[in-house]
Amino acid sequence: MERTKIVDLLTTTEFGKKTLIKGWVRTRRGNKNVAFIALNDGSAIHNIQVVVDIAKFGEEFLKPITTGACIGVVGWLVESQGQGQSSEIQAEEIEIYGTADPAVYPLQKKGHSLEFLREIAYLRPRTNTFGAIFRLRHHLAYAIHEYFNKQGFFYFHTPIITGSDAEGAGSMFQVTVLDIENPVKTEGGKIDYSQDFFGHSTNLTVSGQLEGELGAMALGGIYTFGPTFRAENSNTPRHLAEFWMIEPEVAFNDINANMDLAEDFLKYVITYALEHGKDDIEFLNKMYDNELVERLNFVLDKRFVRLTYTEGVEILEKSGWKFEFPVYWGADLQSEHERFLVEEHFKRPVILTDYPKEIKSFYMKQNDDGKTVRGMDVLFPRIGEIIGGSEREADYQKLLNRVQELNMSMENLWWYLDTRKFGTAPHAGFGLGFERLVLFVTGMQNIRDVIPFPRTPKNAEF
Ligand code: 4AD
Ligand code: MG
Repeated sequence: MERTKIVDLLTTTEFGKKTLIKGWVRTRRGNKNVAFIALNDGSAIHNIQVVVDIAKFGEEFLKPITTGACIGVVGWLVESQGQGQSSEIQAEEIEIYGTADPAVYPLQKKGHSLEFLREIAYLRPRTNTFGAIFRLRHHLAYAIHEYFNKQGFFYFHTPIITGSDAEGAGSMFQVTVLDIENPVKTEGGKIDYSQDFFGHSTNLTVSGQLEGELGAMALGGIYTFGPTFRAENSNTPRHLAEFWMIEPEVAFNDINANMDLAEDFLKYVITYALEHGKDDIEFLNKMYDNELVERLNFVLDKRFVRLTYTEGVEILEKSGWKFEFPVYWGADLQSEHERFLVEEHFKRPVILTDYPKEIKSFYMKQNDDGKTVRGMDVLFPRIGEIIGGSEREADYQKLLNRVQELNMSMENLWWYLDTRKFGTAPHAGFGLGFERLVLFVTGMQNIRDVIPFPRTPKNAEF
């Protein structure tokens, strides 16, 4: 007999049909004569109720069916008498696949804190909350591919091991096969990376952008969607050491087209999540964040405000608001500043552009004022920066000057500069932090709760 998923049972009207379901026991209650087992198979937030005639199976047999146990049930699908569910299963046969000793099963009781669940990240997908979050994460990932495919973009795979530092931030995880306790040294006493696996030093990528640009300069419009790694020691609710990034890159786009794309893209994937993850979003709205659905619709309804960094800083300076970090022209904005603009001042998402060149990456297109670059950050309620991007410097000489000003090594970047020598063109792109998007759509507060296995400083156990 073929297994039916619970998500399909919830909408069926084929009552009286013999059905096989399999899943994990969420709760078991009842009396001497009858047991009610709430079974969940992960296909939906909802459980199906299994009604068990105790005399039929015997108490001894049913005893190990406790919270967390995994069972298969063959039974009749009937219309439910009880409230809150439309159908239930009257058990004819039960197979126990795995027990979960109540004395030691960590999820025996309900209502654990998110902090506690983080410590048992290997089990937390079994909870309603994390089931909802990870299903939504899937829907968002799927929506992203759907969006770009519909728009004629090509999914371009950029390397995870690289020799270059795309952001110039200098916080990378090194990749090496050298014996770190006894590395081969050069005559000058430095580690001899020519002896390493790739013949030079390598690290995990912080961004697929530089290679993505090569793709855009050939295929027109591409996007990447892969893991990125940053060894910055920022222990915040918005930073991970390993996170997923989506980076579209488009030939012939300027900064305005880049902003249009970012806004349209975000609205598309949020709409998709509201349509396909409705039950999960409603669950999270009820349990964690009563304003979630409202906030999602709010972002969809409003045009994002577009203004320059300079205008933004003026607003912040005049606000009279007490910020923890000082704000002045030239300062890198903190999330408290970004959130002020979005949540207090404009009350809608904001795209800031034309940042001081000193606080942005070397590749951004330089404005004629000599001070600012054509970068853009999309700022969201509760999140702050969700997207960072720019129009790219397409002029070889200007790019080279900037690379030299910053003392960056041409050894790792010559190929990137070559794109400006051979058929250069205006182009633009951006990076969306996938987990920041999932944070926004789930209403969760901590980025550790929206990725199955978070990697943060001092934490990579499972
Ligand atoms: O602003 P960032 O550093 O931009 C880039 O990496 C560019 N190469 C993107 C591009 O133009 N193609 O990072 C982009 C986004 C941020 O806006 C943020 O959402 C997310 O990535 N992000 C992080 N998310 C989680 N943990 C971290 N440590 C993150 N750092 C950046
Ligand atoms: Mg950024």
